[in-house]
Amino acid sequence: ELGSYDCYMMKEIEEQPAVMRKIVSAYTTENGQVAIDERIISSLLASDRIYIIACGTSWHAGLIGKNLLEKLAEIPTEVHLSSEFGYHTPLLSEKPFFIYLSQSGETADSRQVLVQTNKWAYPSLTITNVLGSTLSREASFTLPLYAGPEIAVASTKAYTAQIAVLSILASVVGRAKKIMAAETFDVASELSLAAHQMDTLLTKQGKYQDLVEKMLKQTRNAFFIGRGADYSVSLEGALKLKEISYLQCEGFASGELKHGTIALIEERTPVFALITGQSTHLQTRSNLKEVESRGAATCAIVMEDLAQEGDDIILPKVHELFTPLMSVLPTQLIAYYTALMKGNNVDKPRNLAKSVTVE
Ligand code: M6R
Repeated sequence: ELGSYDCYMMKEIEEQPAVMRKIVSAYTTENGQVAIDERIISSLLASDRIYIIACGTSWHAGLIGKNLLEKLAEIPTEVHLSSEFGYHTPLLSEKPFFIYLSQSGETADSRQVLVQTNKWAYPSLTITNVLGSTLSREASFTLPLYAGPEIAVASTKAYTAQIAVLSILASVVGRAKKIMAAETFDVASELSLAAHQMDTLLTKQGKYQDLVEKMLKQTRNAFFIGRGADYSVSLEGALKLKEISYLQCEGFASGELKHGTIALIEERTPVFALITGQSTHLQTRSNLKEVESRGAATCAIVMEDLAQEGDDIILPKVHELFTPLMSVLPTQLIAYYTALMKGNNVDKPRNLAKSVTVE
């Protein structure tokens, strides 16, 4: 199954463009339009608020999903950690709709919430890679991720697949509601473009080994910073790095640095900045300057049209709603090459299981 790869994580990272294409084709009907089961759409149209419930990387994908659902479908959306929701249930709206995001479909923390929302008889949708999994069987509806088996403990292709499926869902609901943002957004062609651009980015892996040697060899900690969607991807990049490199790593909203975190910056502290947002790039750049002037070793990961001389990793241009599909790739590669440099088991990091079936 591994073919020419040494480990599943790299295989799965490189499968992502193909997964995007698979999702587009699986959700396209004979008339050439993307479509979602009518019953799911009616149930969503009848709801007044979406609650996304997930853990870990799936929760990070949910943060991007919130943006897609609010922008394209104009449905207020909250994203909750399963392990928190179960014990600190928020005040719910009148007509909630629950989306369970889970690669495995077996995560106990999420299942515990689903059991509860089923008792309350609220409609639910599981978006999962494993049809027939517990979360899929117990929810009202299921949408498959079509990512193919994900073996490496560090989740990669499930994250981008979750974003892609959520974007199709948001766009179909938005069109049903005649929301302008959805009507002018051709989700299938934007996803296909993203797949193409992901391919381009993934062929350029030459610099990562040097980059991680330079930035992460002599350190115990590292930071990812960004704003908006870049902040959400920073959280995911940090999780991936800590999970397989064992470095202490945090994702921060870059505007928050000056409210405390900047005290941690010392000579050579590694800071990776994600800069893809049209409305936030100047602010994040200025945050990057602030940490640089305090001695940080920095790496700027920047969308093509915002790039400046000296930026380290340039992301080929995609639709602004899809920048996370691009910016997450360098963070996955940074984690992978760091784990490799440290001689860690890339696919099976210590203390972790692929699927967390206990609370
Ligand atoms: O199978 P799930 O998507 O429900 O799993 C959720 C988390 O356990 C999972 O994403 C975990 O955080 C990954 N190992 C991160 O790479």
